[in-house]
Amino acid sequence: MRIAVFASEGAPYAKSGGLGDVMEALPAALSRIPGNEVVLVLPYYKKIKENPAYPVRQVAQCTVKLGWRRQYAGVMALQGRSDGVKVYFIDNDYYFGARPGSIYGDGDDGERFAYFSKACLEALMAIHYIPDVIQCNDWQTALVPTLLRAVYRPEFQDTKCMFTIHNIEYQGWANPDFFDDVLALPWGWRSTLDMNHCVNMMKGAIETADLVTTVSETYARELMYPYYAHGLDGILTDAAWKLTGITNGIDVNTFNPATDPALPWHYDAQSFRVGKADCKAALQQEVGLPVKPDVPMLVMVTRLAGHKGLDLLCYIARKLLWAEDCQMVILGTGEDHFERFFKGLQEEFPDRVAALITFNLGLASRIYAGGDIYMMPSKSEPCGLSQMNAMRYGTVPVVHATGGLKDTVPPVDEHGEGGLGFTFQSYNGDDFLGALERCIHLYKKEPEKFRALQQRDMEQDFSWDKPAQRYMDLFREMTNR
Ligand code: GLC
Repeated sequence: MRIAVFASEGAPYAKSGGLGDVMEALPAALSRIPGNEVVLVLPYYKKIKENPAYPVRQVAQCTVKLGWRRQYAGVMALQGRSDGVKVYFIDNDYYFGARPGSIYGDGDDGERFAYFSKACLEALMAIHYIPDVIQCNDWQTALVPTLLRAVYRPEFQDTKCMFTIHNIEYQGWANPDFFDDVLALPWGWRSTLDMNHCVNMMKGAIETADLVTTVSETYARELMYPYYAHGLDGILTDAAWKLTGITNGIDVNTFNPATDPALPWHYDAQSFRVGKADCKAALQQEVGLPVKPDVPMLVMVTRLAGHKGLDLLCYIARKLLWAEDCQMVILGTGEDHFERFFKGLQEEFPDRVAALITFNLGLASRIYAGGDIYMMPSKSEPCGLSQMNAMRYGTVPVVHATGGLKDTVPPVDEHGEGGLGFTFQSYNGDDFLGALERCIHLYKKEPEKFRALQQRDMEQDFSWDKPAQRYMDLFREMTNR
C-alpha cells in the first residue's frame, strides 16, 4: 500500500513532544510491513536545515496558494535514511527555514501550518506520488482531509484520509478573516470549518476525514465527554462511528536498557537485579543524592505543565517526604511556578530531592534506568509514552487511571500480584498519595513481589508492531483492500 504521513514534527529531525516520537516510530513500523511504501512529509525547520547529519536533495518545487498569495515550496528529499521510509521536507524560509527558536509558538502558526497542509498535497503531486492513504496528525495538518474533499479531489481521486488526534487541547482556532485571507476554500466548505463563527481546523478534520483515530482506546471513549474534549465532544459524538483508539507503542530499539548508550550499565529482564541496582547507584551519584540501594527512588521525566498532574505532586510532596524514607528525582522544564516549587523542595530536602530543571535525553534514560518508581499522575493523557519507557527499564509506574495510562498500566491487585503498576481513579492528591504508598509498601515490605512486578514490566511488548497492524487494518477498511 502507498502511504503518506504528514506531521509538524518527527524525531530525530524535530521534536517537541510525544507526537515527534510517534512520527519517528510509526512510519518505520509501517514500512517494515511487506508491500508498503511509506512517505513522511515534515516542515524544513531551521534546525533541520542547519544540521549536517541530515543531507537533502531538492527533488521538486511547487506553488502553494494562500488566499490571494502564492508561496514557494521546495521539496527536499532526505538522503541516507536506511529503513525504507522516504522523508521529504517542505522548504520555505519565510514559514520555517529562517525562523529561530522552537517549532511552535509564533503568532502566525495558523497560517504556517495551513501553508504546510497545502504544501504537503502539492508536494505529493510534484513528486508524482499519489498514495492510497494519507495519515495526518493533530491540528497542524488538520486541514488536509478538508482540502482533499474541497479542492484536491481530481488529483487524489482514490486517496483516503485518516486523521489522528494526539492532543485535542490545540485545535487550530483562527479568526473568521482566516477564511478569505488564507484558506480561500469554495464557499460551501465554510460551515465545515466554522465553529462559533471562528475557524476550527480540527473540527473540520473530524467531519471530513474518512476515519479518525486517537492514541488509546480509553481516550477514544473519554473524548465523548466535555471534560476531555475541549468543546469538541458533540462533534466527536457525531463522528463516533468512525473513531477508533489505537494505543501507541514506543521505539523499543532506542529505549532498550540492554543497549542504551546513555547508561553506565546494561541489563535486561533477566539480569536487571544487578544492572539496575548499579544504574541506581550511578544516578544517585550523578544527581548528588546519597547512594542508598534500599531507599526507594521516585522519579519523573516530564514537561512541567499543569495537565501532567504536577499540582497533585506539589500537594503531596512534603507529606510523602515526611512520611516515607524515599528519594525523589524530577527532570524537566516548563511552567515557572512548578520550576520554583521543585527547586524549593530540593533546598528543603537536599539529601532527598533532586530537581533537574533541564532537558537532557541521556539523563532521562539514566533516570528511567536508575529509578524504582515512576510517577505519572496526568490529569488527562491521550496515550503517554514515558510510562512505557519506564516499564521497559523496570521502573514501576504509579499513574492516574486515565486515557492511555489506564490502557498500558493494569493495576497490581490487593495481594501485590498481577498487573503492571499502581493506579488511582479520581484526580485527587490523597488518592495519588495512597497509590504511591501502596507501591512503596510493596517495595519495602515485599521485595520479591516488587522484583516480580519489575520483571513483568520489562517483559511487556511495547513495540510498534501490533499498533502498526491495527493502522493497516483501518487503512484496508478505508480503501476496501
Ligand atoms: C501527545 C499526548 C500524549 C501522546 C503523544 C503521542 O503528546 O499528550 O499522551 O502519548 O501525543 O501520541
